[in-house]
Amino acid sequence: MMAQQRVLPLLVASENGRAGMHAAMALLRNGGRALDAVELACRVTEADPADHSVGYGGLPNALGDVELDAGIMDGRTLRSGAVAALYGYAHPITLARQVMEESPHVLLVGRGAERFAAEMGHRPAEQRSPEALRLWRARFLEQGLTPGSSDQLRHIARRLTQPVTLTDRGAPPAASPSATREQTLGTVNFLALDQYGDLASAVSTSGIAWKYPSRVGDSPIIGAGQYCDNRYGAVACTGMGELALRVSTARSVILYLKTGMDLVEAGFEALRDLAYIAPLDAARMNFVVMTPDGRHAGFTTMPDRVYLAMRGDQDEAQALPRLRLPESPQTESH
Ligand code: GLY
Repeated sequence: MMAQQRVLPLLVASENGRAGMHAAMALLRNGGRALDAVELACRVTEADPADHSVGYGGLPNALGDVELDAGIMDGRTLRSGAVAALYGYAHPITLARQVMEESPHVLLVGRGAERFAAEMGHRPAEQRSPEALRLWRARFLEQGLTPGSSDQLRHIARRLTQPVTLTDRGAPPAASPSATREQTLGTVNFLALDQYGDLASAVSTSGIAWKYPSRVGDSPIIGAGQYCDNRYGAVACTGMGELALRVSTARSVILYLKTGMDLVEAGFEALRDLAYIAPLDAARMNFVVMTPDGRHAGFTTMPDRVYLAMRGDQDEAQALPRLRLPESPQTESH
């Protein structure tokens, strides 16, 4: 009997996923599964205190609490699991996978997610790093607000979540105590193709910095922040989650692929959906796409953005430019 031909493994990630890709690729090269690879990669980023957009050290909400969202999807079975507004537990991606595998549900939020974490044997763990709390206080003070003031929090959250001022190269002014735009809108994405031809996606985030408490973004919402189907491809998003929620970005890309569009046209069509609800110079959204035959691309509404890709025969992840719509404004947006 002929041995089944092995597929060359592939990983695709958002720009902040480099460290996680190494561990995940080692697993894939040893015959590991796509689902295990994306979970492992997320855990590496979630544990990194220097990444202020994911897991421990993620930037807090308007009250100074770090609330985490994560989701995972199996492209072979279309099973998925997610947690949202999780407070006081590490590694939301593992909890998301346990929701998928150990509960009858897809999404658990807030107190229920925390109860489930305890039932699954997770120990409570402080997710607020000293540096993240320092940045939270600095953001309040910059705006002339008292850190932790809770009057009319919706107005405060609106003011705090306004984009920070950036130089035209995308770097924060040197003396600013602010977090960068990447930190305030960041998220980590991983897509994997394993030797058996299976796809998986995973997304983890602390959500938009200084958000209203219990705000949930696109990351744990299957169809908005990620989608994965062995037949057509895998997609994951970073950026202003409210946009992907409103136009179901991840599932839309998959459906565009299903109708026969090629990879670039499917991504552009999803960018046009975003442009319909937010002018291209104001929208802040990125997504990565992988197809079952190992093609991939990154898309963005913003200039000069990259994503990472690594094949099983490569030692390092490559940073590749994300595509923008040809009709995008050519100037930097703020
Ligand atoms: N894209 C992550 C969020 O909006 O929460």
